[in-house]
This record gives sequence, structure tokens and C-alpha cells, in this order.
Amino acid sequence: MDEKNMSGGDRVLTNRQGHPIANNQSQRTVGSRGPATLENYQFLEKITHFDRERIPERVVHARGFVCYGEFEATGKIGDEPASKYTRAKLFQQAGKKTPLAIRFSTVIGGRDSSEVARDPRGFAVKFYTEDGNWDLVGNNLAIFFIRDAIKFPDVIHSLKPDPVTFRQEPNRIFDFMSQTPESMHMLTHLFSPRGIPASYRHMEGFGVNTYKMVNAQGETCLVKYHFHPRCGIASLTAEEAAKVQGQDFGSASKDLFTSIERGEYPQWDMYVQIMEDHDHPELEWDPLDDTKIWPEKDFPLRHIGTMTLNRNVEDFFNENEQIAMGTGVLVDGLDFSDDKMLVGRTFSYSDTQRYRVGTNYLQLPVNQAKNAKVATNLSGGTMSYRREMAPGQNPHVNYEPSMHNGLTESPVEQPNNPPEIHGRLTRSVLERRNDYVQARGRYCTMMDWERDDLVFNMGDLLGQCERDIQERMLWHFFLVHDDYGRRVGEKLGISADDVRKLGPLPKQILTDEDQRRLQNLG
Ligand code: HEM
Repeated sequence: MDEKNMSGGDRVLTNRQGHPIANNQSQRTVGSRGPATLENYQFLEKITHFDRERIPERVVHARGFVCYGEFEATGKIGDEPASKYTRAKLFQQAGKKTPLAIRFSTVIGGRDSSEVARDPRGFAVKFYTEDGNWDLVGNNLAIFFIRDAIKFPDVIHSLKPDPVTFRQEPNRIFDFMSQTPESMHMLTHLFSPRGIPASYRHMEGFGVNTYKMVNAQGETCLVKYHFHPRCGIASLTAEEAAKVQGQDFGSASKDLFTSIERGEYPQWDMYVQIMEDHDHPELEWDPLDDTKIWPEKDFPLRHIGTMTLNRNVEDFFNENEQIAMGTGVLVDGLDFSDDKMLVGRTFSYSDTQRYRVGTNYLQLPVNQAKNAKVATNLSGGTMSYRREMAPGQNPHVNYEPSMHNGLTESPVEQPNNPPEIHGRLTRSVLERRNDYVQARGRYCTMMDWERDDLVFNMGDLLGQCERDIQERMLWHFFLVHDDYGRRVGEKLGISADDVRKLGPLPKQILTDEDQRRLQNLG
């Protein structure tokens, strides 16, 4: 043992009260054989802390990995000055750097599950901007299974393990999906080779939901966010993934961590697509529908910057388990749209974080707004350790307004002139659903080997389902594309004739094109 330690140097073990610990091997007992005593503070602190070492895992995206880096702006949005569309400071000048944290994740598995599951991957970025934090919580696939947040608990329950057997059951997944035609586009992506990214470095990132940007005049536009990996996109087949996870459940975290340790810093180019802020009646789908992509030929990608990841976490628990990101965390110049998923998400994230991490989760270093001042009248609550006060603030004044040096409202109210909207309160679905059109486009533009892989993966999992579910899924696939329905059907021993008898789902509205396909099914 080194001399310094023996003599009480820097590395001496202490308890949480700062008391040095001379014996960490035995609890205090009466005689060497016990009984133990209750005033055993050192032992009680150690064991009770251990009992509380875990916080609840995230209800989704439980397995993930954080690292840090920076975003460098081009100062432009495509060829135009960024200021034309947004006043958000991080985008304004070429070369401006904003530090960030990113958490990549899988969605459905628990905290120790495989990182090569067929599952979307989370791509959640926290930008520590000078105007406070901006979280962009996205995925590696550009679209989602559903378009209304009220269906999120259902889609996730169907994908999570069975509440009785605790096994992920294809029958439950496709029971739900077969009643959810808007999921066909996402399923077509997820069961294609893109469904298992080879690593976190080799995948794209998408904001998925529709956001807004706001410029200095208060003018708004609709926006979608994209990240393209400079490492390129690489995926695994089901067979390759099975081999990887036979050796290692944490292959993606390991790849990211070791590449940063080696000094190979992964980079992504960041782009936006922009649309005027209205409902675009000329489109056959709704711009607020997250089951749809915005075709790049009509809404081109515009480069806005580059993200580089260059630093690993020092402690997995503090920085990964306790990081908290959510879609409500926007900065001036960025805004929400009325996308019904986004609105629901925005409530859900901070709600779960108050439960999962605790009331004062924003005081933790990884979640603090590092580059902006925080001064609030919110105080108290579990594990609070400081007041968020402004210099010179009267500590007795934790309310507003006050005449005695309390916090005051910001003197600058930024303009924001979004379009006016009128309507009756209702519970209804978007009118322009067109659930099959983009799945069809995707199916047709796949390369042959990608389509083969899709049909193989889909047939494999659907093969484990009951016949009524298989038939309803095939019915949708035929409406997407005859070839899709026929080929998956061949794997299941089900033909177009077998599914023709099925009519549309209750309340399902088909387009003229869908009707035509239904009449000529197969
Ligand atoms: C995590 C809710 C849709 C991406 C979470 C968490 C919740 C949640 C409760 C756990 C957060 C935490 O414990 O810190 C919802 C709801 C949705 C929805 C209610 C739909 C209404 C989506 C969509 C995406 C997405 C469409 C992709 C764009 C993520 C990511 C995480 C996450 C990446 C992990 C964040 C992290 O790494 O800490 N979601 N989600 N979610 N969600 Fe969603």
C-alpha cells in the first residue's frame, strides 16, 4: 500500500460525512461472531445507499449511451442567411460553436438489453446554447408508427414484453399494428436493413416531428431536422446481429466509446427542410403527420452545420442515467408546431423526468443550462441544493412582482406571429391520412436485396402470429403494393384471395387509389 494512503493521504476512503474509514471489511458487532449493533453508521450508510443505487429506468429508450461534442454552424440555411428563417443564436454566424451532449439509445429493451435489436434508435441532442438549453429528441428513422400522442402508450405496450409472460410477442405487436394502418410506412423501414444499425456512428438522425423556426420579424416556417453521418450508413442483417449479440450486448456503446478514446471523432452534417407555415392543401398528406417524410425533391435538404463528438462521459450513472431531454426544451427562434405527437411528447418528457430523476433534475450538472444564466423563483423539493438566484437578488424575495430587488420579467418580448387558427374542439384524426402512399414509394425505391431482406424479416416474425393477424397485415401490404403482399403472403401460405374478403377497418377512410387497389387486390 502506498505510504500516503496509510498516513491519511488524498485517496483515503471516507463516508459521505467526510469521516475516514479505517475498516471497510467488517461491520461493528459485539465480539467477532455478533450480534451486530444498530448504531453502525458506516455500515448503514453503505448498505442503504446501495439499496437506492438505481433510479427507475426510462420507460422507453432505457438502454443508451451519452457522449459530448460540439455543433459548428455554417451561419446559413442552405444558401441563404440563417437569419432569414430563425433568430436562434446558435445558427447565426459561420464557425460559431455550441457545446452539446448526445444520447443514443434503443427503444424497447431494458437497461441491459441488446444493442443490435431490430428497433428504432434514439438520437437525442442537448445543445447548451447561450440562450439556454435546446433539446432535439429524435430517432434514426425519419418517421414514426403513429401520429397522435394518445396512442403512444398502446403502441409501446404492444412492443414491450407481454404483461403475463414478460416476453416480446410478435402476435401482440402485429395485433396492434394490423389495426393501425399508419404504422405500415414505419414497419416497412424497420423491417428493412435499416432496422438494425451496425453502430451508433453509422446511422442518421431525424427530429421526426415537425417544428417551427421564428425569425426576428416573428415570421414562422415549418421545419424538419436531419443529421447525416460522415462515417456513412451501415446496418446488420438479422443473422449478423444474432452473431454480434451472441458475443456482446453492448456493441454500439463500446464502438462509440472506443472510437472517441482513439481520437476518431464521429461527425454528422446537420440539415433542415423548410416549408411555409400553413396547412398546404396541395399535398396529399399533412405536414403535421409524423408518419410521412417530406420528399427531398420538393423540400430540399439545407445544410446548417456540423456536429462532432469528441469526449466521453466520466460516469455512466451521473451523465447517462440522469440526463433528461425533452421536446419542450426550445430556445428563442425555435418553436413547436401543432403536430399532435409533438404536443403530447412535450408534456410527457418533463413529467417522467420529475418522477424518474426527481423534482430538481435540472440542478444536476449534465442537465444544467451551462452557457446561460438561470434565475428562477422555483425552489425546494427533494435534493435541492441551491437557489437559482441572480447576482444582487434579494434572497428574501422569491416571488414576482416585487419592489425589493426580486427577479423581473425580461424587458424584451420577442415577436412571434404564427398563423391564426379557428376550429371547434374535437377528437378526430387528420383528414389527409393516405397511409399507404409513402410505404409504397419506399418499397418501390428499395434495391432488390433490401426488398428481399424486408420480406424475409417480415415473414419471419409474422410467421409466429395467429392467422387472423397475418391476414390483416397482408391486406395492408397488398394495399401498399401487390408485390409486397404477394411475397410476404408466399412465406405465410396466404394469397390475395384469402384476404380479399376483409373490408377496410372500422372508421378507415381509403383514398381513391386505395379503393382501386382493393378492387384489384393481388
Ligand atoms: C424517451 C415519451 C415519441 C424519441 C422517451 C421517454 C418518454 C417518451 C416518457 C423517457 C424519457 C426519460 O425518461 O427521460 C414519448 C411519447 C411519445 C414519444 C409520449 C409520443 C407521443 C417519440 C418519438 C421519438 C422519440 C416520435 C423520435 C423522434 C425519444 C428518445 C428518447 C425518448 C430519443 C430517449 C431520450 C434520452 O436519450 O434520454 N419518450 N415519446 N419519442 N423518446 Fe419518446
